[in-house]
Amino acid sequence: MIEQEVLAKFKELFGDEGEIGVYFAPGRVNMIGEHTDYNGGHVFPCALTIGTYGVVRKRDDNKLRFYSMNFEQLGILEASLDDLKPEKEADWTNYPKGVIWAFGEKGMKVEQGMDLLLFGNIPNGSGLSSSASVEVLTGYILKSLYGFDVTNQDLALIGQYSENNFNGVNCGIMDQFAIAMGKEGHAIFLDTATLDYTYAPIKLENAKIVISCSNKKRGLGDSKYNERRSECETALAEIQQVVGINSLGDLTEEQFEQYKSAIKDETRVKRAKHAVYENQRTIKAVEALKNNDLKLFGELMNASHVSLRDDYEVTGIELDTLVEEAWKVDGVIGSRMTGAGFGGCTVSIVKDESVDAFIAQVGKAYEEKIGYAADFYVVEIGDGPRKLA
Ligand code: GLA
Repeated sequence: MIEQEVLAKFKELFGDEGEIGVYFAPGRVNMIGEHTDYNGGHVFPCALTIGTYGVVRKRDDNKLRFYSMNFEQLGILEASLDDLKPEKEADWTNYPKGVIWAFGEKGMKVEQGMDLLLFGNIPNGSGLSSSASVEVLTGYILKSLYGFDVTNQDLALIGQYSENNFNGVNCGIMDQFAIAMGKEGHAIFLDTATLDYTYAPIKLENAKIVISCSNKKRGLGDSKYNERRSECETALAEIQQVVGINSLGDLTEEQFEQYKSAIKDETRVKRAKHAVYENQRTIKAVEALKNNDLKLFGELMNASHVSLRDDYEVTGIELDTLVEEAWKVDGVIGSRMTGAGFGGCTVSIVKDESVDAFIAQVGKAYEEKIGYAADFYVVEIGDGPRKLA
């Protein structure tokens, strides 16, 4: 039991006196709607049953002591509530520190320190949002420990605020929202322009969600993520010269074709095209699911990958190999990269009887072509953050 293991490790490191709480926040996978969340479009992610465990105890002073069972070589890292700033040596602790800082910025100053131990069973840097999971977990812990009056949706926004302003990644709202608002068995159809959302049941009769992890490490900060974002912003500004829209998500495919000549650069046309078409694909995919048309849902997933590969150019040989090999396997309903791209994972819907063949075939082809192995996870859709003990 992970819960017992993390608690035992906490007591070994930090002692067993006082009130100790154990918490959990999930990771997430996005089914479709990629790079649409900072373009005012729709996304369709779900929370997973894997995620981050946190064991915590309040302190009487202003010290923060952090330990991660995923980075044991770093030992216990310390910080002070009086001096919260991002530091390279602080490594992963910049995520919880950023959230504590963000609470302060929002008028909820944390006055007492804590000892916090984390363990994540999401593969790190895999594109399943281990960092957003840590952010939402930290927010949830602050809420429970210090009694701040915040909703789970607030926790998503605070997590994003900290990532944008403390950790310097201009991410959208999708990851933190999917994690904070997760619901077992359901994906979240979220309009990122308004934050209106509905839960859609994912009933994959006789099929499973399989995550293929490329094991190519990806850090959003040093990736081309911020560059894509600003390309889209420039394209939007150009289109706004000819038509009054708030975001690329306001456009249908037809409208985009009508106005795209306002964009003065071929690369930016491709970026904006992806944002517009991907948003429309996401809307269609949710409709297909409602109509129990899993085949169409899968085709839209495949089209999403092609667009991310050719127009948005965020895939790379590792993700392309995983997806293109997946498409060759009988019983694969749909397959695409998920998350920011540039490494990380793919998500596939695979018929039950084909899962073993999928893992064997895609795994073999990947290793032959890329030179190292991929990892595969059959995942379940789980709930949002919670206190375990
Ligand atoms: C990362 C970001 C999200 C989103 C995706 C791409 O996961 O954190 O906000 O932009 O990339 O869809």
